[in-house]
Amino acid sequence: MDPSPRLSSSNNPKLSPPDADNLDSARLYDGGKFKSISLNGKIIAPALFLAPMAGITNSAFRRLLSDFGGYGALTTEMLSASAFLNEDTAKSAFSKRRDCEGLVIYQLRISGKEDIEATFAKLEAQNPAAIDLNLGCPAPEIQHQASGAALFRDFERLKQVLKRIRACYKGTLTVKCRLGDDPERWRESFLDRLRLFEDSDIHCITVHPRFSTEKLKRRARWQEFSWIASQTMLPVIGNGDIRSLRDVQDNPDYFDPLAGLMLGRIVAQKPWIFREFAGHSPQKIQYSEVWDRLYRYTSEDLPPERAFGRMKEFTSYFSGNFFFGHELYKGIQKARNVFEVRDAAMRFLESNPQLAGVQ
Ligand SMILES: Cc1cc2nc3c(=O)[nH]c(=O)nc-3n(C[C@H](O)[C@H](O)[C@H](O)COP(=O)(O)O)c2cc1C
Repeated sequence: MDPSPRLSSSNNPKLSPPDADNLDSARLYDGGKFKSISLNGKIIAPALFLAPMAGITNSAFRRLLSDFGGYGALTTEMLSASAFLNEDTAKSAFSKRRDCEGLVIYQLRISGKEDIEATFAKLEAQNPAAIDLNLGCPAPEIQHQASGAALFRDFERLKQVLKRIRACYKGTLTVKCRLGDDPERWRESFLDRLRLFEDSDIHCITVHPRFSTEKLKRRARWQEFSWIASQTMLPVIGNGDIRSLRDVQDNPDYFDPLAGLMLGRIVAQKPWIFREFAGHSPQKIQYSEVWDRLYRYTSEDLPPERAFGRMKEFTSYFSGNFFFGHELYKGIQKARNVFEVRDAAMRFLESNPQLAGVQ
């Protein structure tokens, strides 16, 4: 048992201190503040989460976010159980966690064939804010391994997997999913899964309201959040295409039924965005410095050949900040190693590039 349910966000002063006062607020965002959420007795304040993103949310990226603060909890990239079991968690760039990060949720993708008991024991030793089960990833290679959206689809296997998890792990367990497969008749099977999650003592569910057949281009269906939240006692975290505080302020009917928000790609574009959501004082952003800081952090955690793909992936999102960001994007595509990525990025970022949306 956790002797101190009011877990501090971290020892990082840039993160908001735990605040249970607005736990029961009817509005997700009120009076310049986001609600807090209690997960299994742990207060996460504010209820703002970093989405798990393979290729992005590794330890170096999470360290960069902790420099800015404003979030309630971060999430790792999805971890494969077998890779995680072989990892040295003190060194791994994926599961390693620094104190400055505050609360970290470890996301796992499993099919049920893995050694669930050993995996959860090792994860629990990381003192996670929660362990999250990936039930939404539609990528063919993940579904071929019977995890992500494929596990969500297979009700009986999902039930067995949750049963095995609950037999060995009593801690905070969350799930992240999409709406399902069938845009015409998804509600019934979604309800079956909600009941299963409730019966399995899941503590909250994050919904990315797209179907498993949809890529990220089609708009997320924010209009479904209120129906989903009305069907369960579980807190529902909303995710998908949320890019600014204005999105939330302009759409209270969509967002007020939610217990919190999860932000993904916009955080890769603007690693300081949680500050804006949390109402922290604005900072002058020096784009080249932020890029270079992540480069340094990544180079501390990964050898150059592995930092290469990660810095390219991050830069493809970061380029969205600039009017001519496609030039930055094109520049890094030609790079043959991480040093050339840095050269191309610095050339562009130090040329005082025009910001997107600024005339
Ligand atoms: C590069 C990338 C990697 C992702 N990896 C994961 C993952 O590991 N686990 C997961 O549940 N979702 C993953 N997602 C989905 C995101 O968590 C999120 O649901 C999706 O991007 C929609 O949110 P957004 O519009 O705020 O980005 C990934 C998305 C992207 C763009």
